[in-house]
Amino acid sequence: KDGREVRIYEYLDELNTDLAEYIAELSEASVKERGVFAIALSGGSLISLMGKLCEAPYSKTVDWAKWYIFWVDERVVAKNHADSNYKLAKDGLLSKVPIVPSHVHSINDMVSAEKAAEDYEFVIRQLVRTRVISVSDISDCPKFDLILLGLGPDGHVASLFPNHSILEEKEEWVTFLTDSPKPPPERITFTLPVINSASNVAIVVTGSSKAEAVHSAIDDVGPDCPTLPAKMVQPTKGNLVWFLDKAAASKLDGGAKF
Ligand code: 6PG
Repeated sequence: KDGREVRIYEYLDELNTDLAEYIAELSEASVKERGVFAIALSGGSLISLMGKLCEAPYSKTVDWAKWYIFWVDERVVAKNHADSNYKLAKDGLLSKVPIVPSHVHSINDMVSAEKAAEDYEFVIRQLVRTRVISVSDISDCPKFDLILLGLGPDGHVASLFPNHSILEEKEEWVTFLTDSPKPPPERITFTLPVINSASNVAIVVTGSSKAEAVHSAIDDVGPDCPTLPAKMVQPTKGNLVWFLDKAAASKLDGGAKF
């Protein structure tokens, strides 16, 4: 498919290096073009897979002061809770590089899931207005410079789970759920229109437990799972890159090619 690339790595170390390189390059291009870099993070294994960004040369060469950080999805727990995606990113990345604290847009953890989603959409609207976040050319959706996703063994991305009604959301940018099959149950998440409006989307997947979901999403198999969330990640104008280790790629048609 146009605008889609699948990168497969034999060694995790290579994946980590290439992912850091990819993010650093997008940051540089975006800062050059519009003076800022608006990046949205997921939780899970992604943050440690991005760890090389905190090391040389990236720790020194990336223009961290121009980064604006968002979360694709967040669990509705206190910011210092072990389940918080904010805490995960802070401990694993943001505290290790010179990010401007006021550029870190975490979710309000003092309110209900519904209110947190509403507040977060409001924050994003303000920043679209001031062009910290670009706007899509074809809708009024925010156009993040980069959205980073992980993948669950069930094919979920962000907090968009298979067969959930949120997959049909067309109006809201940020929504909430209280019935997440993966704990904790209360979460807020970007919707598909926002993910698919990004300039760049990367889905980073390691391990054999995800091989089947990777196969379904990339090889486009089966009318059996038309609502596989990962398969619905199809940027309208942007680029999609899959970063896979060989275990995650092991069930792809033609096997793991690297
Ligand atoms: C979350 C994450 C979620 C994650 C996937 C993969 O808050 O749960 O944002 O969408 O990316 O579940 O997680 P792992 O990489 O840890 O398997």
